[in-house]
Amino acid sequence: MQVVSLNDLEVIAESVTPHNMWGFIDGAAYSHLTKKRNRDKFAEITMNPNFLVDIDNRDLSTTILGEPISFPVMVAPAGGQRQHHPEGELATAQGAGQAKTLYTLPTGSGYSIEEVANVASGPLWFQLYHSHDDITEHLVKRAKESGYKAICLTVDVPVSSPKERDLKNGFLRDTALHDGSLRDRPDLLNRKGAGGSRDFADWDGAEFQGLTWDRLDWLRSLTELPLVIKGIRTVGDALKCVEHGVDGIVVSNHGGRQIDHTLSSIESLYAISAAVEDKVELYLDSGVRRGSDVLIALAMGARGVFVGRPLFWGLAYDGAAGVELMLNILREEFDRALAFCGYRNLSEISRDAINVPVTWG
Ligand code: FNR
Repeated sequence: MQVVSLNDLEVIAESVTPHNMWGFIDGAAYSHLTKKRNRDKFAEITMNPNFLVDIDNRDLSTTILGEPISFPVMVAPAGGQRQHHPEGELATAQGAGQAKTLYTLPTGSGYSIEEVANVASGPLWFQLYHSHDDITEHLVKRAKESGYKAICLTVDVPVSSPKERDLKNGFLRDTALHDGSLRDRPDLLNRKGAGGSRDFADWDGAEFQGLTWDRLDWLRSLTELPLVIKGIRTVGDALKCVEHGVDGIVVSNHGGRQIDHTLSSIESLYAISAAVEDKVELYLDSGVRRGSDVLIALAMGARGVFVGRPLFWGLAYDGAAGVELMLNILREEFDRALAFCGYRNLSEISRDAINVPVTWG
């Protein structure tokens, strides 16, 4: 089968991935309403092509918290990559680096912070699930020492969210393939709790110690690395991020995996971007599958977007080369969308590029 779109990669990946692993990757919370809405709401937005303008020498590059990347699509943190593919996060980081973009290593990675840093050629962020202060201190320090460029704190998993498909399939995560960064620290590994079988929501285990807004200063005090908050869905929480001086916000609903029956990510971005303006860098994930989605998100105020499930499709197709291919398909589609809308670079993209239904308010 010839691969021309992410949809092709998805079809091939499903055909070669064991049924229960596929359920884990593809699954979402409860009735999958939010997962579906993430795509449906992108489809409601239209773009405005503009012709007879000079679109030669297009430049897709940008910076994310000052780090240059070749185009505004990055790779989201996702646990389970090493269970899915033997090279796991090593291959994903390499694929992202080959595409000259950023990769976010999840807390629940199969390979360690250092192992991934050693093979990566692009910028890295470290995604943090907070469970215990001493584990967080340990991981943040190692991320900083290994050259990661930001700490990306995922906040949208206050409790775990078992996916019904995983329950039915009896999906079990293989902890040996998920605890790479704490492999050499059994004392910390044992502290994090028994864990679970369904997602990295369960990384936090039963001993979760809440991290609340009033403790963000503590987290910031651990490192001078920029702090990005991932999983923000509401204007209220986005404004609190600004109040607390965070450097970036990933508007995300975790690909619909944590709580069902919420707005799509692009709807959340629409409201948040109007309220936050340019006080903080905004990014979006959840449902990005086409270059036009990227253009829409940027026209709405995002500085860049992330893809989650597609990284697993790329890995299944051809390891690092598959991840690179997945990103390059998005690059080409985005470039074409940019050209059709009459833009030569990202700074030219304006809100006029898109039409948002009046019913969005
Ligand atoms: C995730 N995601 C995720 N996010 C996070 O902050 N830490 C994690 O460990 C994980 N784990 C994880 C596993 C799997 C299998 C998936 C598919 C996703 C969420 C991820 O970062 C991102 O928010 C979504 O995947 C984006 O939605 P799309 O692109 O999958 O629609």
